[in-house]
Amino acid sequence: MVRTAILGVGHYVPEKVVTNDDLAKLFETSDEWIQQRTGIKERRFISESGTGASDLAVPAVKMACERAGVAVSEIDAIIFATLSPDFDFPGSACFLQEKLGLPGVAALDIRNQCSGFLYGLQIADAWIRTGMYKRVCLVGAEVHSTGLDFSNEGRDVAVLFGDGAGCVILGPTEEEGRGLVDIEVHADGRGARELWLQAPSSANIPRLTAKMLEERRHFPTMNGKQVFRWAIEKMPEVTLSVLRRANLTVPDVDLFVPHQANKRINESVAKKLEFPDSKVVHNIEKYGNTTAASIPLALSEAWGDGRAKKGSTVLFAAFGAGFTWGAAVAKL
Ligand code: UT7
Repeated sequence: MVRTAILGVGHYVPEKVVTNDDLAKLFETSDEWIQQRTGIKERRFISESGTGASDLAVPAVKMACERAGVAVSEIDAIIFATLSPDFDFPGSACFLQEKLGLPGVAALDIRNQCSGFLYGLQIADAWIRTGMYKRVCLVGAEVHSTGLDFSNEGRDVAVLFGDGAGCVILGPTEEEGRGLVDIEVHADGRGARELWLQAPSSANIPRLTAKMLEERRHFPTMNGKQVFRWAIEKMPEVTLSVLRRANLTVPDVDLFVPHQANKRINESVAKKLEFPDSKVVHNIEKYGNTTAASIPLALSEAWGDGRAKKGSTVLFAAFGAGFTWGAAVAKL
């Protein structure tokens, strides 16, 4: 039976490190508050105009290809998960395709926020198992820093997010005990307004006005408590569901790579599932929440330091804006 294998994984983060103390110079917050509530110590921001999500994706793709032993020219489809595309349209996948020098290759953007990587993985899995494509490049990449409200009004959101990119190269395998075992994704649009960016909006005439800017509606807003509550309920629920479908239990999993939104969320999820901390990948302290990039970025670091290796059973779970959530289990 053909399954979808993760052939290689890579990541890239911009060089500029922004600490909690740096943010405390911009609005009322403190290193202590941010670390206590979120686990974040620092994040990376792009340092100059002209660097979009597709630019961060390029080195991540190259690293993933190198680790996979796949030439960039072998990629036959690109899926780009992002909530911060370079432009409203066309999608960042098209810009990435141009930068990789792959004219003609299919290029799809998906806009599923923190669960974007898992939605992309489900699509790629269907493409590969039906034989449609052989080397799918699935990228999660975000430039959040240019869209955050660095004032007291926006501080709850501004402290959370960072820029970065992660990529997996996916392809078919018939190797026994290798490949994506199962995946499921969900959404509940009743939560759409709990974490969103209201402007510009095609439902407004015109899409962007001086009044909207004055009201700071071009910055994301969040009902943090509500998002937190849903995340700690849905992530364990979907994780157990996917494990059940895969006929696996928590002790069968070698590594749990959750989306990095808040260390307290992941600690709560791990506790509910009875995962020992040694099996959970955390890197939010260094990068903050990089949304669609966070799972491949965390997997890439775990791959680099040997925690994720050939034969490992790896579990992914995510929850985010939409609301959207999902989980997947794969054997590397
Ligand atoms: O990927 C999915 C996306 N997002 C998430 O998963 C986020 C989920 N939510 C969270 O992570 C948490 O709700 C936050 C970290 C955002 C906030 O933590 P909290 O424990 O829910 O704090 P809170 O919103 O209840 O705020 C507590 C206090 C408030 O002050 P008062 O009203 O108690 O006087 C806030 O104004 O902390 C204040 N506050 C801050 N103080 C210092 C909010 N943001 C900040 C800040 N620095 N950056």
